[in-house]
Amino acid sequence: MEKITFFLLLTLTLSQIVSSSLDRSHSHGLSKLYLTKLLKKDSAIDKNSHFSSALDYLELDKVVLPQEGLKHKDRIKRLSGQPPVKFKQYGGYVTVNEFVGRALFYYFVEAENSRSLPLLLWLNGGPGCSSIAYGAMEELGPFRVHSNGKTLYRNHYAWNHEANVLFLESPAGVGFSYSNTSSDVKSNGDRNTAIDNVIFLLNWIQRFPEYKNRDFYIAGESYAGHFVPQLAQTILHHNKLAKKTLLNLKGIMIGNAVINYETDRKGMYEYHASHALIPDEILEQIERYCNFSDKALPQSQECDNAIDIAIADTEPIDVYNIYAPLCSNSELTLQPKKTSQVIDPCSDDYVIAYMNRPDVQKLLHANVTKIKYNWQPCSDVIESWTDSPLTIIPLLKELMANGVRLWIFSGDTDGIVPVTSTKKSIKKMKLPIKTAWYPWFHNDEVGGYAQIYVGNLTFATVRGAGHQVPSYQPARALSLVKHFLAGTELPNSPKHKNNNVVI
Ligand SMILES: *[C@@H]1O[C@H](CO)[C@@H](O)[C@H](O)[C@H]1NC(C)=O
Ligand SMILES: *[C@@H]1O[C@H](CO)[C@@H](O)[C@H](O)[C@H]1NC(C)=O
Ligand SMILES: *[C@@H]1O[C@H](CO)[C@@H](O)[C@H](O)[C@H]1NC(C)=O
Ligand SMILES: *[C@@H]1O[C@H](CO)[C@@H](O)[C@H](O)[C@H]1NC(C)=O
Repeated sequence: MEKITFFLLLTLTLSQIVSSSLDRSHSHGLSKLYLTKLLKKDSAIDKNSHFSSALDYLELDKVVLPQEGLKHKDRIKRLSGQPPVKFKQYGGYVTVNEFVGRALFYYFVEAENSRSLPLLLWLNGGPGCSSIAYGAMEELGPFRVHSNGKTLYRNHYAWNHEANVLFLESPAGVGFSYSNTSSDVKSNGDRNTAIDNVIFLLNWIQRFPEYKNRDFYIAGESYAGHFVPQLAQTILHHNKLAKKTLLNLKGIMIGNAVINYETDRKGMYEYHASHALIPDEILEQIERYCNFSDKALPQSQECDNAIDIAIADTEPIDVYNIYAPLCSNSELTLQPKKTSQVIDPCSDDYVIAYMNRPDVQKLLHANVTKIKYNWQPCSDVIESWTDSPLTIIPLLKELMANGVRLWIFSGDTDGIVPVTSTKKSIKKMKLPIKTAWYPWFHNDEVGGYAQIYVGNLTFATVRGAGHQVPSYQPARALSLVKHFLAGTELPNSPKHKNNNVVI
């Protein structure tokens, strides 16, 4: 895996610790851009802690360009090295700004059996990580890449059993999404991402008009805890301005999500201590000397020392899935290694090799402008992130008040945005409980635990899953999304059989 250089001026030792910890953990979903901020004081990323909503007035006739004939051109007959399938796939670019020449790349897979199913947009986080790298190729997409970096095999638990699934690489500078004005991608932020994403969707729905009135859902993980609700808010706003339903948004779901800076961080160290990764004394020291109420707050020496020890203790494991094996040999193999439905820890390397192949890019309709840099799972070209609010709780409340279904899930072996963080963040929302904590079942086993709050928030853990839930517990994740889309409670007894998996 390519080394990603830091743009931040950190002390040498610290950057060594952080970077080695990040290089070791393959399949990460929070970018270095974010982690440098999460793990250490860093005022360079954003001083502006509040999301200034992306609620500008968009002149729809100016931002929505003619789309005739483009859907047909985007049809992917077959991906490179792909086994035969019955559903249709599309890939291509949507221009989000004609003047500077900015375009976002998407990959769309229609539902496996019934095309009347809802439309689901999946976003990965970072900021700067690709939804094709993680979402499509390692988590919930229909295919995974063999260890030869060349051929594909089926993911039997792909979410296109339950929905028509759209993967978007955003913002520009991520994956195949680009701008012809290079200064455009160097700096990005939450607000610009939300605006570009909504412009993308308004154009995309024009290109695929049969999905115009379809029930629409947005899901994502990690830093998409910001992107998903921000996009949802922007959509609701434009529906209201237009006095019609531009996009028929019904619900959002976020997993192992960055929600509220203070509780995210406190919960992380609590998790590390309660899972025997750091000593209790270090947790006590962090609780005593650190103040995470604001990202920009300089911390005391005692706090910094304790955090350095916590980083050193967690560095040798994959913090994104604390019990997972590490990738011990990232060399591609001539013959594909035997596959399983649980992700291979070296998958990032297979996906990087696959996505950078010219034949693959050609069949995907990607990189048509010969972008100057390589395709990467997490962007190296976005150098700074200008705005990232401390909390998205007010946004979640606003969406709930507007009748948007909200599910928050958490893979319970993730140590980066762990279940302890998410529980603390939800507690801060101060919602009355509607259905008390219960084990939910999938195939006669506990899939995780769930609790439902008044106002239609479902919180669900996924047992034995790391940061990328569908990579580690694909069957449980498919059951989760099925119930989310149907708006039904996760089954509370083993008698409810989930026969949703076609193998
Ligand atoms: C970017 O520039 C290339 C080469 O001039 C052009 O083909 C492409 O359409 C431009 N992209 C956008 C989004 O305008
Ligand atoms: C943390 O810092 C904030 C902002 O400076 C301050 O208002 C708050 O009282 C501090 N909390 C603690 C526990 O010291
Ligand atoms: C795009 O294509 C060029 C030329 O073939 C290649 O050098 C570059 O790595 C590719 N970039 C991406 C993002 O795929
Ligand atoms: C919660 O969901 C139910 C059933 O879908 C709906 O009737 C109710 O209005 C929703 N409540 C809120 C606060 O949105």
